[in-house]
Amino acid sequence: MVAGLSFTVAIDGPAAAGKGTIARAVAAHFGFAHLDTGLLYRAVAARGGDPVAAARALTAADLARDDLRSLAAGQAASRVAAIPEVRAALVAFQRTFARQPGGAVLDGRDIGTVICPTAEVKLYVTASPEVRAHRRWLEVGGDEAAVLAEVRERDARDMGRADAPLRAAADAVVIDTSEMSIEAAVLAAITAVEARR
Ligand code: C5P
Repeated sequence: MVAGLSFTVAIDGPAAAGKGTIARAVAAHFGFAHLDTGLLYRAVAARGGDPVAAARALTAADLARDDLRSLAAGQAASRVAAIPEVRAALVAFQRTFARQPGGAVLDGRDIGTVICPTAEVKLYVTASPEVRAHRRWLEVGGDEAAVLAEVRERDARDMGRADAPLRAAADAVVIDTSEMSIEAAVLAAITAVEARR
């Protein structure tokens, strides 16, 4: 890659499929910047009040809050993420990040389909709901059946919404991590990016 040129890797998929881990590993491997776009929606919900006003006023300090990673914050994020004006307020920031010189990895739900439809590489990282719920449960504990119900509820909301629903872009490389180790999934992603450079 010529220094100074942009190169965008778009990674989409449902919660707990492994896209965050893959995005961080790909960014570290190629020296690209990384943006976890789910944090934007989590931070909007965490600000409280009118979500559209919160999205328009979002700052870097909001993204640094330490209460954004919980299951509840994820559910709240998925509710505000269904509001078209919230999504619209976050587009320019994400596109500028994606086209910064030196390369960028963005992970989320609509990066390859809406935010960066011309991304050089698109990955769709998925796994069965049961496998994703089991992974989440290993992190958070509690009742595994309740975690599975939460995963299914968030999938239904993210895939069923009218504006920017979660789906694989037509030209995305699909990586199903249901029966893959983290190492194998990261290698598959790096190989896909390597092929497009
Ligand atoms: O990936 P994460 O679990 O942090 O995302 C939280 C929620 O934010 C998702 O369930 C989804 O509703 C929303 N989101 C989105 N578009 C993105 C990233 C996240 O709608 N690009």
